[in-house]
Amino acid sequence: MERLDKFLCDSGVGTRSQVKQILKSGRVTVDGKTERDNSRKIDPQCNTVCLDGEVLGGSRRVVIMLNKPSGFVTATEDKLERTVMELLPAEMKYLDLKPVGRLDKATEGLLLFTNDGDLLHRLISPKKEVPKIYYARHEGEAMSADVEAFAAGLTLRDGTVCLGAKLEPLGPGESLITVCEGKYHQVRRMMASRGMTVLYLERRQEGGLILGDLPRGAVRELTADEVAKLENLSD
Ligand code: URA
Repeated sequence: MERLDKFLCDSGVGTRSQVKQILKSGRVTVDGKTERDNSRKIDPQCNTVCLDGEVLGGSRRVVIMLNKPSGFVTATEDKLERTVMELLPAEMKYLDLKPVGRLDKATEGLLLFTNDGDLLHRLISPKKEVPKIYYARHEGEAMSADVEAFAAGLTLRDGTVCLGAKLEPLGPGESLITVCEGKYHQVRRMMASRGMTVLYLERRQEGGLILGDLPRGAVRELTADEVAKLENLSD
């Protein structure tokens, strides 16, 4: 048995105080009867809870995409820095979402979050080689010798060997880079190993999911098709 307000929060309905208001306004039913008491105990296995007539499933699996701005560290907490968790809207703060992998503090773009620990671990497993596409502005110009060196698998300045990767020069000082692994500062270090310091970095795609025109700092829940895409990748 659990409290109705906790069940509603875990279902992603809203914050504790939003849930209180929603209950007050009579939008919630338990087994077909309007319920306004937030301390009411329910058994999610036996009772049917509806919001505006729609059945709620308890702690449903949620996968979201954030367009991360620069200046936030990818961590669930940090004593000194602002974290990506602060960018989640209030009603999502109760869903136990965790970032999938990480982007550096200065890197912008596509960052996934999920409350499905299994999916998270499959997506960040080095065995899965999930492709990620980055846009970089950098010093210098990428030449065909650089493209070949990326494809062959670079050796970084500290001796780390990388899997083959795709470097697509877009013009002087601008490139797209596709990598299938997630080593520390990977793209910055790969570019540096070829003498090109990265000045700006944005992740535009991950596992076939596209950042598109999601505004910087905004989040959206993935569609069922997008979640299926991730599931297929991580099988
Ligand atoms: N590679 C980097 O160097 N930084 C990131 O944030 C992601 C990939």
